Amino acid sequence: MAAPIALSVSVFIISIVAYGIHDLLTNFEDNGCEMTYMFEYPEYQKIDIGDGQEKYPNYALHIYGEGVYANRIRNLQLNGIPVLFIPGNSGSHKQVRSLGSVALRMAERSRIKVHFNYFVVDINEELSGLYGGVLKKQTEFVHLCLQKILNFYKNAKNPPSSVVLVGHSMGGIVARGLFALPDFDSAMVNTIITQATPHQKPVVSFDEDLHNYYKRVNGFWRSEGGQADLRHVTVVSTGGGHRDVQVRYALTRLDGIVAANRAISASTTSIPKSWVSTDHRCSVWCRQMVLITQRALFDVVDPRTNQISEDADFRMKVFKHHFQSNNALPNYLTHANDSIKLDPKAQWEIKGERSWTFMNRKITKNMYFAVPLRVEEASDSIIVLSNLTNPEWLCYCDIPVGKTSCETCTSLSTHIRLLPPLYSNTKFARISFRDFEVANDTHIVISIPAGQRKISITSDRYNSDERHLVYHLPNSWDSVISYPISATDGAAMLRIQNQSVFYSLHLAGLALPTTAYKALIIPLGCRRHSAESNEGSILRLNVPWSNEETYSFSSYGKMASLMIKLQTPRPLSLAWDWHLDDSVEPHLEMFLHPYCHYQLRLLASAPDSLGQKYLEWDCPG
Ligand SMILES: *[C@@H]1O[C@H](CO)[C@@H](O)[C@H](O)[C@H]1NC(C)=O
Ligand SMILES: *[C@@H]1O[C@H](CO)[C@@H](O)[C@H](O)[C@H]1NC(C)=O
Ligand SMILES: *[C@@H]1O[C@H](CO)[C@@H](O)[C@H](O)[C@H]1NC(C)=O
Ligand SMILES: *[C@@H]1O[C@H](CO)[C@@H](O)[C@H](O)[C@H]1NC(C)=O
Repeated sequence: MAAPIALSVSVFIISIVAYGIHDLLTNFEDNGCEMTYMFEYPEYQKIDIGDGQEKYPNYALHIYGEGVYANRIRNLQLNGIPVLFIPGNSGSHKQVRSLGSVALRMAERSRIKVHFNYFVVDINEELSGLYGGVLKKQTEFVHLCLQKILNFYKNAKNPPSSVVLVGHSMGGIVARGLFALPDFDSAMVNTIITQATPHQKPVVSFDEDLHNYYKRVNGFWRSEGGQADLRHVTVVSTGGGHRDVQVRYALTRLDGIVAANRAISASTTSIPKSWVSTDHRCSVWCRQMVLITQRALFDVVDPRTNQISEDADFRMKVFKHHFQSNNALPNYLTHANDSIKLDPKAQWEIKGERSWTFMNRKITKNMYFAVPLRVEEASDSIIVLSNLTNPEWLCYCDIPVGKTSCETCTSLSTHIRLLPPLYSNTKFARISFRDFEVANDTHIVISIPAGQRKISITSDRYNSDERHLVYHLPNSWDSVISYPISATDGAAMLRIQNQSVFYSLHLAGLALPTTAYKALIIPLGCRRHSAESNEGSILRLNVPWSNEETYSFSSYGKMASLMIKLQTPRPLSLAWDWHLDDSVEPHLEMFLHPYCHYQLRLLASAPDSLGQKYLEWDCPG
């Protein structure tokens, strides 16, 4: 039944003329953000902060509430975890609603009795992105608010000693700016999350006060004294990807400002379960990101105090998990190489084929699939995709000749990553046999517990010389494509093995955001006519230096396209010579359906005109 199909990938390099470029730059995927729905009427209770308010007649502090909770907090006898939202340039205080509302819903469902109190400063929708003078005033006002906020917890069982800060756009700069105030007690803040904040430099450059503000704040964060003062502070900065044309992702990065072991910078396109580019405003309400942010905040709560954990290393682990390397396991604290005990009564099946797919509606008995690794002479890698929902589903062990099972195995959970589309549960592990000791009897074990419903597993063992191809970015017709792709008549053609699930195209020389390509994966034929909505092909632009991966998914039998355009230039510190190490250059990764065969097209654009376009963005004003 499983008639093998010819899978052929051909690569066409087509230069497109100048007028096509505009389309390439502006024709992003549709806004992929989901809306956050509110069920109850939002209330922004204005808080009388007493002494000090007269200095800031245009500013105010509010606390967010809905329904019963809004009534409960009216007397300001609080006992949750305080979070202060700081809106950005011309931002309204009502922007706190998305996070505040989701935090309430999650607290209702949470098993542990933890909830968050969301505060917000109303800074009168000032243009803080243009005039530095207002930033200083806003920072001082936020400082005053923090002192007031902590006072509301006097009667709580475990009163908080710090407030979480969430800043949108310039609000993120204000959050970091607090620490540069002469009289700021840095113990008041240990967690900062910024959304589309230009940390590196202001977006416009004509205002001197703005420059001075940045100079003072970033100077403090970079200074030795600052670093010592900030050891307990963890900062997460997210940027919106290509759709945010106001604040480019490169500006949102924290490199060189916050110590690397206290900072995470990520593009929303790369964040697992987000995978969308958010435009500047949308970064506040994009539901995927709101959920991820709030989940991360629940996970950094210390169960002993029901407040944010004081352990900065622990918080970094949790944030890395949610914003960077979510492997679908709730146990981000467990260690790799953990030994797993297997069920001695389970049913075992050896899956020797090079490539196979397993689908089942209902599993009634614990099962293990054992996939031998050393079969074909040349195989050196394996990729496994599944939508299993049990946590430890992938491990390895040695099964000696004459035996058909093992008793314990070693977890491979650190290799697992999630893939789009959202809600599909798709995860993959791509394992090079170099990653661990592979003996002749080593097997990968896939664990399928009884009770799993409607599962799909695909496995493909391969030789990386045939799947990991190199494309030298030429910006011209005489593109050189490495063996085994051969070029004929300006089109490059590649014949590859049947049932190939994974390909990686190393884009050698792609180092600047001025180069743009569009990758198209076109299915030429598929074995079945219909499929589930989550089945299809996934493209990923993997950029090793900056957490700016981009993804696209297309359903079974449909064309997938992905813009190949960097958001940050490759750091000069990385080896320029691609011969040395291809792991420091971008790759186009293709996760293909084993039942289809495809053609890959790369549409290239003229670099010069694009360069100009890029410069226009770089220097507005
Ligand atoms: C691939 O599929 C084609 C067509 O079904 C078949 O003729 C060919 O033998 C297969 N190749 C391999 C290596 O299995
Ligand atoms: C897991 O084991 C491999 C080889 O046995 C080793 O290289 C790797 O560092 C280990 N990882 C951790 C996190 O201990
Ligand atoms: C593993 O298998 C290869 C090829 O079958 C063989 O040459 C080699 O001796 C084997 N190694 C061991 C340790 O059994
Ligand atoms: C797993 O994938 C199969 C095939 O696409 C689908 O029918 C099933 O609903 C998926 N199951 C889960 C738990 O997502």
